[in-house]
Formats: sequence, C-alpha cells, structure tokens
Amino acid sequence: MLYHENGRVGLQSVIGLGCWNFGGQWNNKVSKDAAIEIIRYAIDHGITFVDVAESYGIPDGQCEILLGEALANGYREKVTLISKVGWYARRTADHFSAVDGYWRKQAKKAFNQLYRFKEVDFNHRTPELLRLCGHACCGRLKTDYVDILLCHDDKPKDASSFITAFRQLRDEGFIRYYGISTNDIGALQRFYELSNGECAACECDYSLLNRRAETELFKFCHKNNIAIFTRGTLERGILSGKYTASSSFDESCREAWNLGGKAHKQYLNKIAAVEKIVKTIEPEKISKIAYQFAFSNEVHPCVVTGCTSLEQLKDNLAAAESYINPHLLNVL
Ligand SMILES: NC(=O)c1ccc[n+]([C@@H]2O[C@H](COP(=O)([O-])OP(=O)(O)OC[C@H]3O[C@@H](n4cnc5c(N)ncnc54)[C@H](OP(=O)(O)O)[C@@H]3O)[C@@H](O)[C@H]2O)c1
Repeated sequence: MLYHENGRVGLQSVIGLGCWNFGGQWNNKVSKDAAIEIIRYAIDHGITFVDVAESYGIPDGQCEILLGEALANGYREKVTLISKVGWYARRTADHFSAVDGYWRKQAKKAFNQLYRFKEVDFNHRTPELLRLCGHACCGRLKTDYVDILLCHDDKPKDASSFITAFRQLRDEGFIRYYGISTNDIGALQRFYELSNGECAACECDYSLLNRRAETELFKFCHKNNIAIFTRGTLERGILSGKYTASSSFDESCREAWNLGGKAHKQYLNKIAAVEKIVKTIEPEKISKIAYQFAFSNEVHPCVVTGCTSLEQLKDNLAAAESYINPHLLNVL
C-alpha cells in the first residue's frame, strides 16, 4: 500500500474504503457478514480511512450502523473515519420533517433528553439540527468522535449553518476536522472563506472520464492545504470494463443508465470511451489503471473506492501498490 501526506489531515493510504455499497442501496448485493469481512480485510491490509454518510443505506443510517459494528474489536482506532451530514432522508423527501415516523420521533426524543429543549426546528437545516445529526452519526457508528465530518450538500444555500454546527461539534470533541463534499469550486471557496480557513477536507469526483477537478478545485485545495478525497474513480463500475452497451442495472443508483433511462445516452458515451481506453492500455487492466491514474495526480488525492465483493477489494488493493506508469499518463 502506498501512502500520501493529504493536506492537514496527514498521512493516509492512497485508497480508502467507501461503504455506500453496504446497507441496502445497492440491492443487498453484499450481505452484512460479507460487508464486515470486507471492511476488516481492508483495514488489515493497509487502508487507513473509511467513508460513509448518514444518508447511506435503507433505511437512512444503515451503513453507519453496519460500519459501527465492523469497527468494533479495535478496528475503530486504526482508521480515519469520514462521514457526512445534511442529506438525511434525501431519497425520501427534501427535508427532515417529511420523515415523519421513526427518525423524527427518535431525534426529537434524543434531543429533548440531551438538551431539554422543547422547540427544535425539524424543518430546516439549522445549526442545532445539524449538530444533532453529528451526534447521531457518532451514535450509529458507536464511536466517541468522527475524524472528518463533511457537508453532504455540494452547493449549500446556507453554508454558515453547517460551519456553526461543525465548530460546536469540534469544540465538544465529537469531530476532529470538517469540510465539504462538492465538485463546485465556487461552493468550496465560499465554504472555505466562511470557515475562516478551517475547512480541512474536500471530497469530489475524479476519474479518467471526468478530469474537471484538475482545472481549479485541486489547485485550490493544494494551495490551502485542504485534504483531497476523490470518488467516482470507476464511474460506479463503468471503468471496470465489464459492462457493455446492452448491460442493464437494477440498483436505483444506476437504473437511469438502462435503455429508456434518462442517463442512457451518457452511459453509452462512457462505454465507448472505456472501449477506446482499453485498446490503449492493453494488456493492463482498466480498473487498475483507473485507480492509479487518480491517486498518481500531482496534488496527491486519496481515492475512496467502492466494492461489492472481497475479490474486487483485493484487486483494488493490488492497484494501490504502485503509481501509474508515466508512459500511460502521456497516452490516456
Ligand atoms: N460524497 C459523495 O457525495 C459521494 C458520492 C458517491 C460516492 N461516494 C463515496 O465513494 C465510494 C465509492 O463510490 P463510487 O461510486 O465513487 O465508486 P466507483 O469506484 O466509481 O465504483 C465502484 C463500483 O465499481 C465496481 N467495482 C469496484 N471495484 C471493482 C473491480 N476491482 N473490478 C470490477 N468492478 C469493480 C463495483 O460495482 P459492481 O460490482 O456492482 O459493478 C463498485 O460498486 C462510496 O462508497 C462512497 O463512500 C461519495
């Protein structure tokens, strides 16, 4: 495993493990036991960070609960834990109040027990609600603190609510660093300025098929010592090379690629681009080159990977043993 100094967050493995694939949103492809095995195997084999969010899983929060179980027995201390708040119930409704049943009741109960407040605004992302979300992350993850808590909204209308909540959580000891998950340079700049330079991490898309971050976002992070975590390295699987124009998908996060789906055209374009890359890099494996391409960038991003089996994880760990052949960088 290779390691990078990643901004002010410090030394991290060049790839980490994202946990979005676990917890039901990918059609239960990975059982709970298999997910725990994958997470622990990753940590035992050099991965130093794991990524999750309050909104991952069905119901929301399920991935954090599962990750919390996997991190028992001493695993928690071995990793940098990244989570995100701001989109609880995004898939079911646009704001918290619409989740009338379980969560609203639980959150109100917890909040009232903890703070004895009677009037909590559950309709908007107020600082106190976001602060409560941070506490809830720690509870689900069964940890005293999350290392990096990110704003999960890539263009927050009111970034200052997040920053106020994150500062409180940091001062209470529930988080170490905070930042934002965004592909938008304007949003990152605003967030950084409003935080008076405290924004310590940015998570953004970056892949062989999507190099937008290179133009401004990477440079801004590098200049301001903001740790960079990238995702989408395999374009949700397309850059593994195993899918074709006629593949079909049954997960909600990929079904728009199917014939008749609203992202079918983009899917076909990506498949065509992948076919071209495969010819250029043969006999190398495209998923390996896709990972190496991402973490070999000069600003030293750390890559959040996702996998649906232990075999895929092993493949991805093997890719993290060396940087990309510079000759390939010239032809890709
Ligand atoms: N901040 C955000 O808003 C955000 C957004 C997206 C993701 N993320 C984070 O990033 C993580 C990664 O997600 P992603 O969508 O960016 O992942 P990705 O790397 O673009 O794609 C991962 C998918 O590719 C396939 N795959 C992985 N390794 C493979 C291998 N060696 N061979 C063949 N296929 C392989 C698996 O799907 P199949 O086997 O089903 O094809 C896997 O689910 C997530 O878990 C999450 O933590 C964050």
